Amino acid sequence: MGPLSLPRKVTVLGSTGSVGLSTLDLLARADGHEVEVAALVAGRNAERLAEQAIRWRPEVAVLQDESALPELRERLSGTGIRTAAGESAVVEAAGMDCQWTMSAIVGFAGLAPTLAAARTGAVIALANKESLVCAGPALLRTAKLAGGAVIPVDSEHSAIFQVFERENAERISRLILTASGGPFRTWTRQAMSAATREQALAHPNWSMGVKISIDSATMMNKGLEVIEASYLFAMPPERVDVLIHPQSIIHSMVEYADGSTLAQLGPPDMRTPIACAFAWPDRMPWDAPKLDLTKAPLTFEEPDLDRFPALALAKHALRTGGMAPAAMNAANEVAVAAFLDRRIGFLDIAATVAETLERLAADGALDGGGDALERAKDTDTTARRVASGVLAGPLRSQTA
Ligand SMILES: NC(=O)c1ccc[n+]([C@@H]2O[C@H](COP(=O)([O-])OP(=O)(O)OC[C@H]3O[C@@H](n4cnc5c(N)ncnc54)[C@H](OP(=O)(O)O)[C@@H]3O)[C@@H](O)[C@H]2O)c1
Repeated sequence: MGPLSLPRKVTVLGSTGSVGLSTLDLLARADGHEVEVAALVAGRNAERLAEQAIRWRPEVAVLQDESALPELRERLSGTGIRTAAGESAVVEAAGMDCQWTMSAIVGFAGLAPTLAAARTGAVIALANKESLVCAGPALLRTAKLAGGAVIPVDSEHSAIFQVFERENAERISRLILTASGGPFRTWTRQAMSAATREQALAHPNWSMGVKISIDSATMMNKGLEVIEASYLFAMPPERVDVLIHPQSIIHSMVEYADGSTLAQLGPPDMRTPIACAFAWPDRMPWDAPKLDLTKAPLTFEEPDLDRFPALALAKHALRTGGMAPAAMNAANEVAVAAFLDRRIGFLDIAATVAETLERLAADGALDGGGDALERAKDTDTTARRVASGVLAGPLRSQTA
């Protein structure tokens, strides 16, 4: 085995978030490997971004929120680190020359910078699942044409990526994504209707950002992941299944035609899939937490689509195709924000998404075609407007 060859110059998009922090923590553990940082990019957390910039000395530190730029400038004055803010500055930073980009901005906002990074031919370590959901084929094509690659960081897709035999792709019968089931796995629908923000954010196994934590509670997260898996591994919707696995030890599986099922296991720690994406096709040695399989039995259940309709909605959007996944994603982002603001109940999240998709389908607004980024942006804007209109009226989950 030769010496370990790791990317030298990196960019971290979403550096101040949960995945961003795990990424920088892991990079700091790459023994004897000097990392150079092209750009650190965040939304509005000037204090944390400045701390990171002082530690990592990027060429540029960028915030999306222009009103937070004066604070960032003040905190970095005298350091010589360039600062910038605004959406175009985010995209410009994402398109800077580097070998490896962590894409970990949350939501649709991650799409344009991820595409900009893909155009450079860098390896994209993809955590921002929403960009694949909204423009998956275009993003993968862009990375390929530029001579780069997209390596999934979502633990489920990292698992599949590791056990997916490309030379035997035609002999794969299905992908099995595992799901913890989230905090409401055993709750009744009635109890879920009164679930609070705090209860929904209390994920049993993973510590994550707020949006993905709510998505995990509704199981929209798994729905987004089904779409992500279908695009990433060119697998038709009917061959991507979901299985509840409350311990989050098996991160996903690939079932082959000969009856073999290959799984990847690991502790629920994002640094392991990030390490995989950083060193691939090598393996990066670090002081990783290890599994103790004597500690817990591994159990499995079928998902309950009546209590978790978001999963069924996502599968439907994937089968519908065109702009349905992008519209679903936008409606979900609007509904999750409303739930986090305590403006709607927990079950209203999926009800808002369902109603938005119905209205858009009735208007014929879900067809594909045209420039992928422009089409995704238009769909996102329209679906956000329709979802806000849905929220302003009576929701089916309240009247049911
Ligand atoms: N957390 C996990 O374990 C996990 C696992 C798998 C996949 N993912 C995916 O990874 C992505 C990030 O998740 P997370 O949990 O790390 O989220 P998070 O903790 O909320 O962090 C989001 C990051 O994005 C930045 N950001 C937000 N809006 C932005 C914008 N408009 N422009 C530029 N930056 C922006 C935030 O900056 P500020 O802090 O300044 O607001 C922060 O750095 C999501 O797509 C999620 O689905 C996460």
